[in-house]
Amino acid sequence: MDDLKDKYLTQIAEAQDEDTLETLRISAVGKKGEVSLKMRELGKMTPEERQIAGPALNALKDEINSALSAKKAALADAALDERLRSEWLDVTLPSRPERRGTIHPISQVTEEVTAIFAEMGFSVAEGPRIDTDWYNFDALNIPGHHPARAEMDTFYMHRTEGDNRPPHVLRTHTSPVQIRSMEATGAPTRIICPGGVYRADYDQTHTPMFHQVEGLAIDRDISMANLKWVLEEFVKAYFEVEDVELRFRASHFPFTEPSAEVDIRCSWEGGQLKVGEGDDWLEILGSGMVHPKVLQAGGIDPAEWQGFAFGMGIDRIAMLKYGIPDLRAFFDSDLRWLRHYGFAALDMPTLHGGLSG
Ligand code: PHE
Repeated sequence: MDDLKDKYLTQIAEAQDEDTLETLRISAVGKKGEVSLKMRELGKMTPEERQIAGPALNALKDEINSALSAKKAALADAALDERLRSEWLDVTLPSRPERRGTIHPISQVTEEVTAIFAEMGFSVAEGPRIDTDWYNFDALNIPGHHPARAEMDTFYMHRTEGDNRPPHVLRTHTSPVQIRSMEATGAPTRIICPGGVYRADYDQTHTPMFHQVEGLAIDRDISMANLKWVLEEFVKAYFEVEDVELRFRASHFPFTEPSAEVDIRCSWEGGQLKVGEGDDWLEILGSGMVHPKVLQAGGIDPAEWQGFAFGMGIDRIAMLKYGIPDLRAFFDSDLRWLRHYGFAALDMPTLHGGLSG
């Protein structure tokens, strides 16, 4: 018994890891361990022998077990010490001086647009990028046979035989969020919705995914005059100019009546865009008074409420403001481009702080 005790206590003391300890435990006090086998022999002993050997074996078993758990705790302490030592970090060190990440121009412009409209009492609404064709088309007064469905080069989600869920599309514009927000809050309401939209189109001025910001204001006596004022305020604040001139060109959208496309006066002298002067006109958005059928689809009574809506291309106004020549570069993830056109990470655009910093 003394031999067994010496052997195991020495080996336990020398063990360097938990696996070794476990092996030792099994070969000493495990079911078929040396100490356990000795205990089985108690049965063959005389009562006198058993009276001496029994307590001694139990004491040996206890001693080995407590040596095992003491060593286990010591190993865990040592491991923790080692970890604390190797993972030590001086949080008072200065941060790295070089600028690593930048804010993408689309994120920057989305923040700028949000800041401007927030000042005018618009809150931000959101909707899914994969939506049903009802929200994307029907609810916006674009029935199944309407040519606008084809014009928009819609991406339809794959459907298998017998799938009876409503057809889903990648939303072709942010206008479905008009309906969703009418459903969610009713009237009156004032929201913008910035976000990604999709159309199967690709060239220098079109990418299959791009960004729009939708605007919607509904109240009892909203008119085109309100729309005009809001857009003028927006364009002045966004392009950071004192004065702008907007031109409302009669147009057609199924979801607004009347509808207008809006151009801003500008000049391109020396290839540089100047807003508010010159003889050129730049189209920046589509807009109009919300069609009564659209209000109805959103659960709002058109006899009581009316409103305006507009939809503007975020990528387009980002290119214009920051002189970015090719739309496709927005989505190339080219680090040199991102470093050149990106914005400092902690500069949140605000009206009082100067939008673009
Ligand atoms: N949804 C239209 C488009 O994508 C823009 C628009 C929005 C026009 C709201 C009028 C009112 O072209």
